[in-house]
Amino acid sequence: MRVKFKFGLLALLLCVLACNSPQTLNTKENFDFNWKFYANDISNSEDVNFNDTLWRNVNLPHDWSIEGNFSKNNPSFSRGGWLQTGKVTYRKTFQVAKEDKNKRFVIYFDGAYRNSEVFINGHSLGKRPLGYIAFHYDMTNHIKFGGNNVITVKLDNSSQPGSRWYTGTGIYRHVHLIKTNKLYVPIWGNYIVADNYTSKKAEIKIETSVQNDFSEEKSVIIRHTAYAPNGEAVATISNGVIIASTRKETAHSVLEVPNPQVWSQETPNLYTIKTEILEADVVVYSEENKTGIRTLEFSKNEGFKLNGKVTKLKGVCLHHAGGPLGAAIYRRTVERQLEKLREMGSNAVRTAHNPFSEEFLKVCDSMGFLVMNEAFDEWELIKEPMTTQNGKKIRIPVDFYANKFKEWADIDLQDMLLRDRNHPSVIMWSIGNEIHQMSKDEGVAIGKRLANIVHNLDYRPVTNGVHGYWSPNRPNQEAAATSDIYGFNYITEERYLNEIDLLKDIKSVITEHQSAQSFYPRSTYLYNEEKKAWWDKLNYEHNDAYEWVESRGILGEPGMEAWRMTKKYPNIMGMFIWTGWDYLGEVIPFGWPARSSCFAPIDLAGFPKDGYYFYQSQWSNKPMVHIFPHWNLKGMEGKKVTVHSYTNGDEVELFQDGKSLGKKKNNLNAVEYQSWDVVYQPGELKAVSFKNGSIIAEKVVKTAGAPAKIKVETRRTEMKANGQDVIYVECTILDKDGNEVPTANNTLKFNVEGPAIIAGVGNGNSMGLEPFKANKRSAFHGKCLAILQSTQEAGNITCTITSEGLETVSVALISK
Ligand code: GAL
Repeated sequence: MRVKFKFGLLALLLCVLACNSPQTLNTKENFDFNWKFYANDISNSEDVNFNDTLWRNVNLPHDWSIEGNFSKNNPSFSRGGWLQTGKVTYRKTFQVAKEDKNKRFVIYFDGAYRNSEVFINGHSLGKRPLGYIAFHYDMTNHIKFGGNNVITVKLDNSSQPGSRWYTGTGIYRHVHLIKTNKLYVPIWGNYIVADNYTSKKAEIKIETSVQNDFSEEKSVIIRHTAYAPNGEAVATISNGVIIASTRKETAHSVLEVPNPQVWSQETPNLYTIKTEILEADVVVYSEENKTGIRTLEFSKNEGFKLNGKVTKLKGVCLHHAGGPLGAAIYRRTVERQLEKLREMGSNAVRTAHNPFSEEFLKVCDSMGFLVMNEAFDEWELIKEPMTTQNGKKIRIPVDFYANKFKEWADIDLQDMLLRDRNHPSVIMWSIGNEIHQMSKDEGVAIGKRLANIVHNLDYRPVTNGVHGYWSPNRPNQEAAATSDIYGFNYITEERYLNEIDLLKDIKSVITEHQSAQSFYPRSTYLYNEEKKAWWDKLNYEHNDAYEWVESRGILGEPGMEAWRMTKKYPNIMGMFIWTGWDYLGEVIPFGWPARSSCFAPIDLAGFPKDGYYFYQSQWSNKPMVHIFPHWNLKGMEGKKVTVHSYTNGDEVELFQDGKSLGKKKNNLNAVEYQSWDVVYQPGELKAVSFKNGSIIAEKVVKTAGAPAKIKVETRRTEMKANGQDVIYVECTILDKDGNEVPTANNTLKFNVEGPAIIAGVGNGNSMGLEPFKANKRSAFHGKCLAILQSTQEAGNITCTITSEGLETVSVALISK
């Protein structure tokens, strides 16, 4: 029973409650440090007295798969990037004080890959098959107060191939130990909606659950305070609630915020909502959540509107992992990914095809990114994705989630919604990707069930990437109607027009489409015999992979088509390219030795490919021009080479060694690029871009000489001394005159002095089999990367980079 009381009664009530003893506040402790790790299952490891002293010490987030070498014998196969998978065990010993005997203890995992079973002091707390979902357990009944406690986590990622892409294996997201009193807001118990505002006032609606674990009824005040982005308290509201013993009550409040500062892509203003529970005028529980005040509208005629303004989703699909660090990534990894995407002009991400970390959404909130938050890649049917072996296309089933779906899908979807629905960056929910059951009657019931779960918990629309991709089959009409916004994968204009004609009156988004990028690794330009030699080296028995790659071409024309359509039809809300960044696994159309994908305009190490500049020319207003290929094309002297340019100017002029090769138009209302046939000779190419007759950008590409030195770029020189911050050290090899050497493959060695470690190295070569955990890396087409991670010690750091025959370079960094 819930009883609200008015504030006239409040003084009396507070007086009555004042005789209760005050309780100390709740805490949420970072529980990432000092775990023990064993790379297998081991019997009795959940026992408190099990001896783990010889186990390895690890800190979280931790991904065991990324630590291994690539091997053709690893059962994760090309889908999992040929990396190790299996069973692993973690243990952590911690003390709980005697004085805490009236407290409640919860262990919270933001994700552990996969099939987890968690134990406290030998008692199983539960199992969780899906490795991408956040989960938590109340451990209070098994805690030893005034002594040692042991948490054991057993993971099983041994059934392989277990996914269509690299997943990682381990407790690869953050863990928290939560301590509360017996009056508390359960995990994800605050639901905040801030989508109603005028320039004078915003209404922030808050639904709060409060649980009373005491053996007597409790009268409490729930108090919410809103803090503006500058930290100033701007609104407060209190609500009285009486909660019976062992019961939970839900209260509804509305905070009225004056002169709201809205959340938008350009101004991602975040308000902090502090929620406190007061008993006898004493705060017994407190938590803070962020919210952003903004409106979302989805219409079939105008597409998507953010704060009343039509906004095309210039989106990318991403996977959850972070290149050389594997699945164990830090906030900075996400920030760097999104910074580069933003510089490319992108404003939206689809979390392909599973729940991401909480941190990812926090970064999207703070940067003003828009998120299509996706739950599933599989429903009840196992997927058998296309794979290339010896150059030939084959299908191999993956043991991912289908056989867990019936038991777990509703719970997983609900938990994803509960964890994520306060994030202003989330604009829609996706309940699936390329789900074949949607073409059958059985898709109707499942689609309805999942959509209902979403609609019962939140106001944002449901989509599902199921239209268009497996033509001529179409989703069952009733199943399709379970989406509020119809999601199209790989749709062509002709098929789109046909579909919307058949479906009538729908809202649509291109959930997925090719990117305007070739399949060849970054800066790979192959001509004549060189192309043959490149493919011969792969030693494929069949030509399927070759045909697949070549049909996409050097520009990725089908990807450009998707943007043409999106621009042309106002009712298409936007598009998401496959993918924004390369990711490990799903190496199609290649096979061994390829170990990461190659679909994206940004490679696995974070270096832009040519397609990146196509999107910049289309999606960004920052004046730019890009030309390719590079101009170190030894062997092509006297032969014709086609040079392409991308720009957001309206005209481009190309010069070869100072001589104009002519101006070409760029129609900004269309989607265009420019090409010139040029006779190659070593020298200089210069592109000059104009807008309304004035120069807006220039790009010079010179034939470089021998590698001589290293350019180092870091984006930042300072990190936090918290053991969880990283700096990306990007290296480019230059000749003595400072020209980039696009063919250089020198091996660079990284030496670190001071409180930092090398967390990983990479170079963006999707076929490079050097390990990611190392202190050296060969450059790939002139570039490579080292990732420095802070320790918990502050101090100055010097990273010195050496390579035989190149000038040594040092970079000064600091950890604070
Ligand atoms: C799509 C699928 C993606 C990815 C992609 C590779 O059909 O939805 O998850 O597999 O193909 O091209």
